[in-house]
Amino acid sequence: MKHRYLVTGGAGFIGSNFVHFIDQTEPESLVLVFDKLTYAGNLDSLKGMGPQHQVVVGDICDEQLVAQALAQFKPDRLVHFAAESHVDRSIDGPKEFVKTNVLGTFTLLHQAKIYFEANKGDFRFLQVSTDEVYGSLGETGYFTEETPYQPNSPYSASKAGSDHLVRAWWHTYHFPVITTNCSNNYGPFQFPEKLIPVVILSALSGKPLPIYGDGQNIRDWLFVLDHCKGIHRALERGELGECYNIGGNNELTNLQVVHRICEILDLRRPKQKGSYKDQITFVKDRPGHDRRYAIDASKIKAKLGWQPEESFESGFLKTVDWYLEHEDWVKNILSGEYRLTRQGLGA
Ligand code: NAD
Ligand code: DAU
Repeated sequence: MKHRYLVTGGAGFIGSNFVHFIDQTEPESLVLVFDKLTYAGNLDSLKGMGPQHQVVVGDICDEQLVAQALAQFKPDRLVHFAAESHVDRSIDGPKEFVKTNVLGTFTLLHQAKIYFEANKGDFRFLQVSTDEVYGSLGETGYFTEETPYQPNSPYSASKAGSDHLVRAWWHTYHFPVITTNCSNNYGPFQFPEKLIPVVILSALSGKPLPIYGDGQNIRDWLFVLDHCKGIHRALERGELGECYNIGGNNELTNLQVVHRICEILDLRRPKQKGSYKDQITFVKDRPGHDRRYAIDASKIKAKLGWQPEESFESGFLKTVDWYLEHEDWVKNILSGEYRLTRQGLGA
């Protein structure tokens, strides 16, 4: 047996990609997904994983259930993806973000520390964080691991709060943590409320493609499998107590992203007349919208030998093709049916 991974949020976008990555690359390892199955959690995204893995449906704020999962599964790796993750939702309803991201992370840390002290061994807690905690950049510069935290949205503030707790557990208790701060992910299994799936699916159904403000906000896009590999590398080779930035070195304005997706769709599923670009519609901006994110990923490259494998060109093609080939996955989300599949996979 190689590792026993307890993966919180493993039914979400990045978590499910991580589970498949482990399933495919470490046949001797076992995974326990611990997920509340909020609107963003989808057991369909875990279809195809080996039957040796398990799913517990539960809230990371539930101390007893977390303690029980740790005691029974006995992980040596805890990879913490579970979070409320959508900035727009955090603006409309910040409370769930504080509960899950801050209180939930506290609960996990508290219970995992009790578990670690009782069992010791080579246990590692990996906090999956975001570049948004660093705030917004001007036209130049990059986020490094030394950049001071300046979160601007309720989402990023709650993630920053959870990162600070993780840091404190290392400094105060020597609880074995590693934190990764990653840029915008794209790829299979992303819930259709984030920019890229919104654009693909709205384009195909003839709806407007909503671009906030002037479309000139910049994000640094990374293919989700590269992120999973970076997390895995940090778990395996990272130094305890350290933070590692993970980024794609792929800065694009939102308008460039949407144009590129439209161009791919024009090739793959040409419209009878015109281009998908004709559906682009500029809409009211997001309040407090961060202008630019850009990651300096030189530390993880130099210290751990990680760098992205997928280019923006190849990654966007793979992503559009994945959505075109997985109509059932999309249909179950759009119809709400995916919320009814909680019974599956040992849940
Ligand atoms: P997601 O919203 O797709 O998935 C979140 C998962 O967490 C869902 O399965 C959901 O059911 C689960 N969850 C939510 N609240 C829970 C709770 N209280 N208890 C247990 N499970 C709960 O998110 P994602 O995009 O996959 O992001 C995963 C992590 O990566 C988050 O911590 C996010 O902050 C971070 N991150 C995301 C990106 C990105 O571009 N998506 C980039 C950098 C970092
Ligand atoms: O940077 C990492 C972060 O990336 C993660 O921490 C978050 O969990 C993840 O959701 C993502 O946050 P963003 O706010 O950058 O992602 P989103 O897909 O919501 O938006 C990307 C950009 O596109 C952003 O500038 C807002 C804009 N946008 C978004 C939507 C949904 C639009 O213009 N139109 C849209 O309809």
